[in-house]
Amino acid sequence: MLILGIETSCDETSASIVKDGIDILSNVISSSLKYHKKFGGVVPEIATRHHVENIDKVINRSLYDAGIKTGDIDAVAVTDGPGLVGSLLTGISCAKAMSYSLDKPLIAVDHLKAHIYSAIMIKDAPHFPFIGLIISGGHTRLYMVKDFDSFELLGDTVDDAVGEAYDKVAKILGLGYPGGPVIDRLAKKGNPNAIKFTCKAVNGTLDFSFSGIKTAVLYHTRTQRRRDTKAQGIKDICASFQEAALKVIVENSIKAMDKYKIKTLVIGGGVSANSRFREMMQREAKYKDFKLYFPPMSLCSDNAAMTAGLGYKLYKKGIKAQLDMTVRV
Ligand code: KG4
Ligand code: ZN
Repeated sequence: MLILGIETSCDETSASIVKDGIDILSNVISSSLKYHKKFGGVVPEIATRHHVENIDKVINRSLYDAGIKTGDIDAVAVTDGPGLVGSLLTGISCAKAMSYSLDKPLIAVDHLKAHIYSAIMIKDAPHFPFIGLIISGGHTRLYMVKDFDSFELLGDTVDDAVGEAYDKVAKILGLGYPGGPVIDRLAKKGNPNAIKFTCKAVNGTLDFSFSGIKTAVLYHTRTQRRRDTKAQGIKDICASFQEAALKVIVENSIKAMDKYKIKTLVIGGGVSANSRFREMMQREAKYKDFKLYFPPMSLCSDNAAMTAGLGYKLYKKGIKAQLDMTVRV
């Protein structure tokens, strides 16, 4: 079964053809990132305009790369939220038009669940239930995942998402947007014990808070400006911030697995590309003997392959959307 996936929740315009939920025949991504950089974050209007101008080309390219025609598509899956309203609406409108004109089923796909699915788009996928961890620019959440459409929220951030904290710290340090990849790179050459930043679970729960550590970085750079704006100082700040921010995510994930006696952790979202985080988690998985699933690097950030893949699983469960569906923010 061939599913066309469409993803436009943020600044990536993406279309993909996936066969039977796991075989990615094409995955085309056109990002408007370069137009947002000078503003230090994603500007919703610019993102929407980019989607409107590019969605038809991206879909055509995904069909071409997969070597198929529109008539070969069995269903259309589209991200319906969470995300930017105008951006989501562009993808949804396009998906509805294609579903109606081709007379093929329409499937609405949750973006966060799709991020989790990106790590298990494989033949030997783990059985339910498992603990799902989303670490992205907009969310930091732990879920008990019971089925493709059954996610129970266990922990959430009470303020900033971890990716947002990376982006804000990068802004404070003058490193540009997005912050994750550059901090990941600079932290490799820094000392993670140079500065004592703390980041703890909220009142011993499975909830997170990242705004405190962001403010601590801000005050640290203000008071230490002369010394720490030197190259090594910035690397030390990156390494120390990253170590503290990632440690709490590792700890809460393990706490969730212990609490619910689950030995499988599935991770998705942009921050799952982080090299230090992968290292920390892999060490824990070995030590505590649990199964760990990360997405391949190509599926860490927003893409339509995970949308099409999860769309297939939902379709198999008989879950379809109607033409009056709309954005869920
Ligand atoms: O999942 P994603 O592409 O978009 C959302 O749905 O939010 O995540 C984007 C976030 C950004 O905050 C970016 O800084 C972060 O993922 N990110 C990283 C890395 N690559 C991207 N954070 C830490 N380390 C990375 N290597
Ligand atoms: Zn995302």
